[in-house]
Amino acid sequence: MRSKTDTIINSDHSRNNVWSMFDQIAHRYDFLNHSLSLGQDILWRRRVSKYISGKTFSTFLDIATGTGDQLIRIVNKVNTIQSAVGVDMSRNMLNIGLKKIAKRNIQNRVALVQGDALNLPIYSDSVELITISFGIRNVIDVSKSLDEMFRVMKTEGMLIILEFSIPQNTLFRCFYLFYLRNILPIIGSFISGNKKAYTYLNKTIETFPYGNEFCKIMKQAGFTKITAKPLTFGIATIYCASK
Ligand SMILES: C[S@@+](CC[C@H](N)C(=O)[O-])C[C@H]1O[C@@H](n2cnc3c(N)ncnc32)[C@H](O)[C@@H]1O
Repeated sequence: MRSKTDTIINSDHSRNNVWSMFDQIAHRYDFLNHSLSLGQDILWRRRVSKYISGKTFSTFLDIATGTGDQLIRIVNKVNTIQSAVGVDMSRNMLNIGLKKIAKRNIQNRVALVQGDALNLPIYSDSVELITISFGIRNVIDVSKSLDEMFRVMKTEGMLIILEFSIPQNTLFRCFYLFYLRNILPIIGSFISGNKKAYTYLNKTIETFPYGNEFCKIMKQAGFTKITAKPLTFGIATIYCASK
């Protein structure tokens, strides 16, 4: 029997790579996320779902879905969603997500697929709502990934990107960068047992374009109605756009 998600998953697509670092820290990922962000990540995800409030999307794609927190929150909030797909390269992250989905008994509306944000295993013009939370920073080619989002999105669809950014206030920025460079890698390495992953985290946050600079990259991919909303003094930003 065909599942509802078959309407948007192109299962002929094959995956080329695995991102092994996330495979290694998957078992500690959720705990570290909540503790290192002092619970802020939960509030930021909630803010993402507020953007969708009152909308009646039926197809939804969460890219770099990881353990599925953003995906599950939105599926629970928007009951018009019939077909939700989470794509990620890390099998271990997806396996944790699968358990959460089974626990909530939403597997008839949700599928998790191992796949690459640079070559989405999704049909063109098939998705109404796309989200990517803390994922775009990790892809090798940001513009190509945005091109892929544009390809799979239906006209007048909605894209929401949640990503780390750097606070503008000088004092707060100094404090934050100290935490990012000196404290976070120690706690992250200790709990996850993976030093590389948490040194990598601060490097990618500090070098990733944010605010207007990132809006320009989204515009180049063809997106319109682009907005950027800084959260928690600019530690994270929500970008919203349409096709
Ligand atoms: C920081 S985690 C974010 C997970 C989840 N979205 C969240 O909000 O917790 C980044 C995720 O991006 C995935 N990832 C990295 N590169 C990817 C790619 N090219 N395609 C798909 N997923 C990718 C990793 O496997 C990892 O699960």
